[in-house]
Amino acid sequence: MIACFVDGKLAGNCEISFRTGMKDRHRASVAIALLQAYWNLGIGTRMFEEMIRTAKERGDVRQIEIEFIEGNSRARGLYEKMGFRITGVKPDAIRMKDGTFVNEYMMQKRL
Ligand SMILES: CC(C)(COP(=O)(O)OP(=O)(O)OC[C@H]1O[C@@H](n2cnc3c(N)ncnc32)[C@H](O)[C@@H]1OP(=O)(O)O)[C@@H](O)C(=O)NCCC(=O)NCCS
Repeated sequence: MIACFVDGKLAGNCEISFRTGMKDRHRASVAIALLQAYWNLGIGTRMFEEMIRTAKERGDVRQIEIEFIEGNSRARGLYEKMGFRITGVKPDAIRMKDGTFVNEYMMQKRL
C-alpha cells in the first residue's frame, strides 16, 4: 500500500496485490481512492506509475487487473490513460443505495 500525504494530511491511498499461486503468480490487482479535494492533481497518475514500476520490478508479473463501476468515468479515464483495457463485464454486480443495479467492468494492463 502507498499512502499520499499533502501538507501532512492524508490525501488517499492505493494498493497492489500480487497473486502467489503457481498458476496465477503472473497476475496482480490494484485499487486506488483519493479524497475529492485531491482529485485532478496528477496524484492518481503518479500512484499508478509507482504501482506499475513495482509490478515490473517483481519480474514474473505479466498483467495487472482492476475493476470500475459503471458511470465512474473519472476512474475509467485514468485507467485507460495508464494503459488498461476492458476485458469483461459483470452485469448488475453492484446494488446502489437507491436500489438500482449497475455493471462492474474488469480491466487489464499487459506489462
Ligand atoms: C479515480 C481517481 C483515483 C483519479 O485520481 P486523480 O488523482 O484525480 O487522477 P489524475 O489527476 O492523476 O489523472 C486524471 C486523469 O483521469 C482522467 N480523468 C479525469 N477526469 C475525468 C473525467 N471527468 N472523465 C474522464 N476521465 C477523466 C484523465 O485521463 C486524466 O488525465 P489527464 O489529466 O492527463 O488528462 C480519483 O478521482 C478517485 O479517487 N476517485 C474516487 C475513488 C474512486 O473512484 N476510485 C476508483 C474505484 S474503481
